[in-house]
This record gives sequence, structure tokens and C-alpha cells, in this order.
Amino acid sequence: MWNQTLFDTIDIFGPAPDSEPARQYYYMKKCRQWAEDEKESLGRPLTYFAETLGCQMNAKDSEKMTAILEYIGYVPGGVHEKKDGKAIDADFVLYNTCTVRENANQKIYGHLGFLKNQKVKHPMMKIALCGCMMQEEDEIEKVKRSYPFVDIVFGTFNIHKLAELLYEQITSDKRVMDVWAEPGEIVEDLPGKRKYPFKTGVNIMYGCNNFCSYCIVPYVRGRERSRRPEEILEEVRALVSEGVTEIMLLGQNVNSYGKTFVDIDVNPASGGAKICPVSKEERVNFADLLRQVNEVEGLRRIRFMTSHPKDLSEDLIDAMATCDKVCNHLHLPLQSGSSRILRKMNRSYDKELYLSLVDKIRDRLPDIALTTDIIVGFPGETEEDFMETMDVVDRVGYDSAYTFIYSKRSGTPAARMEGEVPDDVIRERFDRLLDRIHRKSEALFAARVGGTFEALVEEVNDHDPSMVSARLSNNALVHLVAPGDRIGSYVNVRLVENKGFYYLGELES
Ligand code: 5AD
Ligand code: SF4
Repeated sequence: MWNQTLFDTIDIFGPAPDSEPARQYYYMKKCRQWAEDEKESLGRPLTYFAETLGCQMNAKDSEKMTAILEYIGYVPGGVHEKKDGKAIDADFVLYNTCTVRENANQKIYGHLGFLKNQKVKHPMMKIALCGCMMQEEDEIEKVKRSYPFVDIVFGTFNIHKLAELLYEQITSDKRVMDVWAEPGEIVEDLPGKRKYPFKTGVNIMYGCNNFCSYCIVPYVRGRERSRRPEEILEEVRALVSEGVTEIMLLGQNVNSYGKTFVDIDVNPASGGAKICPVSKEERVNFADLLRQVNEVEGLRRIRFMTSHPKDLSEDLIDAMATCDKVCNHLHLPLQSGSSRILRKMNRSYDKELYLSLVDKIRDRLPDIALTTDIIVGFPGETEEDFMETMDVVDRVGYDSAYTFIYSKRSGTPAARMEGEVPDDVIRERFDRLLDRIHRKSEALFAARVGGTFEALVEEVNDHDPSMVSARLSNNALVHLVAPGDRIGSYVNVRLVENKGFYYLGELES
């Protein structure tokens, strides 16, 4: 947690402390002093613009980094909508990148091409790149070679160092690159900033050990590390005391939480402190962690992301059924419905196991909304394999699904597999799959119309300011007429119309 007392005692005229978080507090203060001088000479505060690609983990990392920037004295801004697009003249531009699919990388290079011209017009702009894409050697080389105007590059393991890297850049006026190959100490005691004051994510673990054959995540986010339960609970309690009522517990594979605790004394090589020092008594699995978080007074809703079917235990289903704060939604990535393809994907479950898991979940939680991820066009995927995926979609009935076209990621085992599926075949399968998913989800959505549900009001509607957008426990979105001062509160909404991906509703209370 943020340690204000420590922060206040840091002396910025002495040398930088070696230990964390004192070291980062020192650099935040140093940068703050610099930002104040800049503000005075410019006659305005410094501005920042941050764009985040990818998953919830990246979104959480960006919350941490923008909090650091705001502590330093940057304010959001420096982006102007123009007739022919956007103009950016922010003093600090941060791209938190994703590399899970090739098109995410292309997007970043597109942004950089655009920023090159913006920086010519606004030379004091500092451009920083971080996140998953920056953990790849080829991409770093490309940035070094072709994008000399990028000022700061760092990866996924050292986002906490933003202030230190910025200070180094300011004082050296040179490009600063600091990408760690391995995870080091996890520094959590940084300032917090939330997109919504009433809901946020909490990291419970980092990295992934699963090595699904198509996926680059284990290579760019490292091995699985679980945070201590007491540390997580402390963070949740502190967030609740600041007004948060909905928490999303975050990890690449939350169901294996707790399997990666390591004794201090069995880990002398890393100096003992680097990897999750957790005593035997403290060790809990994910189901128990849910039960403990459920006890936090003042908290209303608990979500979690992402579940791997192979680690989803009956104990967890029981915890979900008995913990009143756990939301009525489960994201359960399928990836493929073909047992043959699942084996090649190294997913450690087959079609039957997935379907029986869904049955067990629906037995205990009959109204639960299930969502999923599906990849189309994995190497060697035949029409028969694809029809197995369609069959699972039919049998499960997902409320929604993220569908992806397989993207070859160099360095992963699937990149070396034969049987590339032609583009036109993939497109045609992709469209058929979307159609099938929508037909099933329409029916599920329609069945709830007329019912009254509790919803958390999240924001004023983008298109109609007399309306607000709210989210049901099952994660469905509903738009309704309600005053803006209900934002952050729980209301009862009657669903009156199904619009396919969302509802129109009426406020009941
Ligand atoms: N190609 C396409 N989709 C992928 N995903 C991960 N790696 C790839 C890839 N190489 C998808 C998976 C995962 C989601 C976050 O991204 O479906 O669950
Ligand atoms: Fe990637 Fe598989 Fe880990 Fe998910 S579980 S991050 S798909 S390797």
C-alpha cells in the first residue's frame, strides 16, 4: 500500500535510496520538483496522454503508471479531436503495448508513425513505450533502429520504475531503455488512481506457467507469481475504505492462485525476497481467497479474470455458489471445441472435460452468464475441428464471446506447426462462428427481459446525457434514464428491451 509517512520523510537532496519503494518515492519527488519548475516557466501544468492496449492486466498497470505521472504533476490532456482526426501535443505520451496478436503490434507502429509528426510540432513531447511488446527483442531492435524519437522504453517487470526512468531521461537528455528479462521484486506500494472511483482491479498474481502453444504471454510476463493473501486483503480493505465497492481479482490464470508460493528458505538463490515469501499457514488456494475477500465489509461485488478450465476446481464452484458477493458471471476460455486441436494447443483439457465442467457449474449456479475466448484458424484446424467448436457454442450458450483469428507469434511452439489455414477459409469460419454465438446469446438475453436486477451505475451514457449506463452482476450492460448523481450507486433496474449486446431498462429504485 502507498506509504505516505515514508514518502514524507524522503530527502531528495541526499543520494537515492537502494531499497523499494523508497527509491521510487525519491524519484517521484525529484520529478515533481522538475515538473513544478516546468509548470512555472510554461505557465501551465504539464500534460500526459496514455493509451493502453490489451488485457485487464495492462489496464491495471496503466492505472499504476498514470497515478505516478499525476503524483509528479502531470495532468491528463494534450489530445485534441480535429475534423481530420486527432492532434496530440501532450508533454508525455505513454503507450502500454500488447503483443498477444500481430495486429496489436501493427497498431503501435501506426501510432508511432503519427507521433513522429506530432513531435516535430511539439519538440518537448516525451514518448514512452512499455508493456508486453517491449519484452520482445526483435521489437526493441526495431524501435531502436527505426523510431529514434522514442525517449523511454521499459517492459512489464519494471513499470514501477517510471519516475526513475523519467528522471534519468530528463537529466541525461538521452533515450533511456530498461527492459528486464526476468521478473524482479514486485513493488506494490505506489500511488493508486482509478478510472472509476467505485470499481477497480486488484492483481492477485503475475505471469503464466501454462505455455499454451499459440500464446506469447508466458514469454513476456514471466513465470507465475502469487501475491500474499494478506497483502491482497489489505489492498481490498484500503480500496473499500476509499469508496470502492466492486473488485476484479486479476491474473492470467487465477484458478492456479497459490500454487506458486515459495518458501523464503528454499529460495536462497534469489536473495530470498524476490519470489512470494509466504509462510505455510498463510497459503490458500483461489477458492479460499475468494471466501476471504467475500468477508471484507463494505465490499459489494467480486469479479475475477481469467479462469483456465483445467484448474477450475469443485471447491471454487462451491465458493462461487456460497459467496454472496461473487458476481453471476464466469469467463471460461474455450479456445477450441476440438479435442485434437486442444491437445495441439497444450490446453490440458478436452471437449468432454470442458462440457462436463460447464454442467457442474450450471448445476450449482443455474443463472450464471458464461463468456469465452475462441481462436479460429489454429494450424491444422479442419472443418471437422471447427464444427466441434460450433457444437460447444451450441451446447454451452455463451452470453458473449471474444473471437480471435489465430495470429502466429514467433518463438511459440505453434509458430513452427504445419497446416496453415488459408485466409478465406478462416474468414468464412469466423463469420459463421460469430453468427452462431450471436444467435445463442440473443436468446439468453431475451429470456431476461421483464426481470428486475440490481445494477451498478457506471457512467453517463455517451450518446444521450439523460441516460446512464449500468452493469448487472452477470456483466450485461443496461442503459436507463436516471440522474447522473446515481453514478457509483446500486439501483434496481427492470429490463424492458433487448438490444442484442445490451438492454434498455427502467429504474425501479
Ligand atoms: N492468436 C490469436 N489469439 C490469441 N490469443 C492468445 N494468443 C493468441 C494468438 N496467438 C487469445 C486467446 C486468449 C486471449 C486473451 O487472446 O483466446 O484467451
Ligand atoms: Fe496465454 Fe494460455 Fe497463459 Fe492464457 S493460460 S496467458 S492463453 S499461455
